[in-house]
Amino acid sequence: MEPENNTLNFNTLKAQYDQISASYNALQNELKEVKQEAQRFHESDERFKTIFEQSSVANKIINADLEILEINQAVVDLLGYRKEEIIGSRIRDFSRADFNERWQRLQTELWEKRVPKFNFEVCLIKKDKTEVWCIVESILFKDRDQTLGYTLLQNITDRKRNEQSKDEVLGIVSHELKTPITSLKAYGQVLERIFKSESNAFAGAMLRKMNIQVIKLTRLIHDLLDITRMEGGKFALNLVTYSFSDLLNEVVNDIRATSNYHINLQTIENVNCYGDKGRTEQVLINLINNAIKYSPGEDKIVVRLDRNEKELICSVQDFGMGIPAQKHENLFERYFRVENENTQNIAGLGLGLYISAEMIHRQNGRIWVESEEGKGSTFHFSLPCL
Ligand SMILES: Nc1ncnc2c1ncn2[C@@H]1O[C@H](COP(=O)(O)OP(=O)(O)OP(=O)(O)O)[C@@H](O)[C@H]1O
Ligand SMILES: [Mg+2]
Repeated sequence: MEPENNTLNFNTLKAQYDQISASYNALQNELKEVKQEAQRFHESDERFKTIFEQSSVANKIINADLEILEINQAVVDLLGYRKEEIIGSRIRDFSRADFNERWQRLQTELWEKRVPKFNFEVCLIKKDKTEVWCIVESILFKDRDQTLGYTLLQNITDRKRNEQSKDEVLGIVSHELKTPITSLKAYGQVLERIFKSESNAFAGAMLRKMNIQVIKLTRLIHDLLDITRMEGGKFALNLVTYSFSDLLNEVVNDIRATSNYHINLQTIENVNCYGDKGRTEQVLINLINNAIKYSPGEDKIVVRLDRNEKELICSVQDFGMGIPAQKHENLFERYFRVENENTQNIAGLGLGLYISAEMIHRQNGRIWVESEEGKGSTFHFSLPCL
């Protein structure tokens, strides 16, 4: 029995040894892989740190309380504060006051994961109290078990200065044009009434056409004035409680009276708003005028009003040329126009949507587009409602 037992023991031991040895080898291999992975991680971490620190573009990392954890030298150069003064603060502490609220809203949307990133032009105040303009781009990322925010701040002050000197000229010119055009409008309207009451239909019709053009010119001048005010931070809202439904009806009826388009208005029961009625009217006019202007040969536009608990959503749909998808993200930038064979004979400055977006954002609303080339466009905006 003994030798047999020995053999058995030996065989069992051998099997166990083989097993342990195999596991050991497997473990060794795994360890090697983990080490390689760690090495790769270390290298990519180093690469990230080098790019982060050396980049000439300002970079920062923030935590969920929006406190700045890390910055590179470019942020120090951008703001003129020392690194220790910036770490631990929040970037909005450096924002010009009129950008603060909008920026906060974008940050909230990002951190609540309602958008994957945001991108925003903002004016910051440096330590020496001068202004610096930046495009801010922020995303979230996971770092071990926490979520952090990563932001790029691209200095666009030179471009803005150029724009501002153009704006100053525009501001002076449009201001000077405002008085004569207002008188022209008043005289034109009086004359139209006189000729109509004297049953001079031809002169009445000519004056009506002239007055429509004068109204367009007036609107253009106001757009140019708005631009200069917005950029200079001197743009004030006149907040009142008003019926958005009544406003929408008035605007649609006015446009119906001056255009051959059939405007189909699909609305709900009365919706009240607290906001700037005049500015919102301007947005509606811009969107409906665009719908008409960019759908030549069509004759239908649909305007819809809907609401949820907190906000109203108004949409303007046309069935015209539409907008190529790659242009959607630029539509609300100032002076941006889609340039192709469809639009080459249509005049415009590329300001209407920029101004509309500013008006809506300043009233805590959103504005966006759905459009497909050749199939038409729908512009939507939301506003907080009562
Ligand atoms: N409903 C639409 N359908 C197709 N393209 C549109 C529509 N609305 C706007 N666009 C495109 O977006 C661009 C920007 O529109 P925006 O209203 O800002 O400027 P504009 O109409 O060119 O000039 P204006 O400053 O006189 O309004 C337009 O030039 C046009 O290419
Ligand atoms: Mg327009």
